Amino acid sequence: SKIHSFLQQLPKCEHHVHLEGCLTPELMFSLAARNGVTLPDPDTRPEFSSAEALYERYEHFTSLDDFLSYYFIGMSVLKQKDDYEALAWEYFQKAHADGVHHAEVFFDPQEHINRGVPYETVVMGFKAGCQRAEREYGMTTKLILCFVKHLPASDASKVFDLAWERGDFELGGALHGIGASSSEVGPPKDMFKEIYATAHSKGVQRTAHAGEEGDPSYIIAALDAYKSQRIDHGIRLIDSPSLMERVVQEEILLTVCPVSNIKLRCFDHISQVPIRMFLDAGVKFSINSDDPAYFGGFILHNYCAVQEAFGLSVTEWRTIALNSIQGSWVEQDRKLEME
Ligand code: ADE
Ligand code: ZN
Repeated sequence: SKIHSFLQQLPKCEHHVHLEGCLTPELMFSLAARNGVTLPDPDTRPEFSSAEALYERYEHFTSLDDFLSYYFIGMSVLKQKDDYEALAWEYFQKAHADGVHHAEVFFDPQEHINRGVPYETVVMGFKAGCQRAEREYGMTTKLILCFVKHLPASDASKVFDLAWERGDFELGGALHGIGASSSEVGPPKDMFKEIYATAHSKGVQRTAHAGEEGDPSYIIAALDAYKSQRIDHGIRLIDSPSLMERVVQEEILLTVCPVSNIKLRCFDHISQVPIRMFLDAGVKFSINSDDPAYFGGFILHNYCAVQEAFGLSVTEWRTIALNSIQGSWVEQDRKLEME
């Protein structure tokens, strides 16, 4: 349709996609076979009997943690540098087809390290995928190291120190920032406070998942304890008008993932995602895919779902696209090129 092609052609930036969340059941089963990784037994877990059965199960996530239990099993098939590169490349091909010009992508090294995959293998594989996208598509890409909240903060510290000592956060290094993801309600809201303070003092860019399932106090912790420059999700801002005002004043970008919010039961329908409210209040946000292989669609699917529910004007779409360019962690020249 006309609007679909307008949204496809609109220069888009993606700021909230987990590379491990781009692992399709097809690639999962093929890597499991190649790497000799045992997935759960189909006799006791019938959803692991085929790609179709997994897709069917993905239609019925009950919460963030229910989804995460599949996400962390899925990524256990990744072993070799080539696996990481192939996964990233699959994402970039989809993103390019959807009209993404600039992508900032998350990954969770702690989970891979705990399974015995060296940090270097993970980063070199993902980086190779990023470089291929830059070479073949002229896309710009940034890798963001995410700390996971269900594992000890001391593990996260070790990964940060290793990345820092390798020079990965330096100009021209593999990494461009840090994030925090995984379970929200349960772990302490400020569990990575020391790491974020160190990152801040070293000039490392910072974002954090907050206010997805958790109340606005999680967003406050990300802003105050982490000095986070962006908030990933942030939809629970709807419960605090004063905090929403602060986010507007401080020009914090929210990376909103509408389809994810429906799949993980944060809202019943896309029309309840506060797109209209954020536009009217002047909250800056980008629209993103989160874990596209698990939620049934990449970034354009999210743009189209928002359009279907809200019927935004061309001007409003241009504002959304412009805010997402300006909120990107990329050089000024590149921003001007994309505008
Ligand atoms: N890791 C992958 N997807 C996530 C999400 N939606 N929230 C928190 N952690 C995640
Ligand atoms: Zn996420």
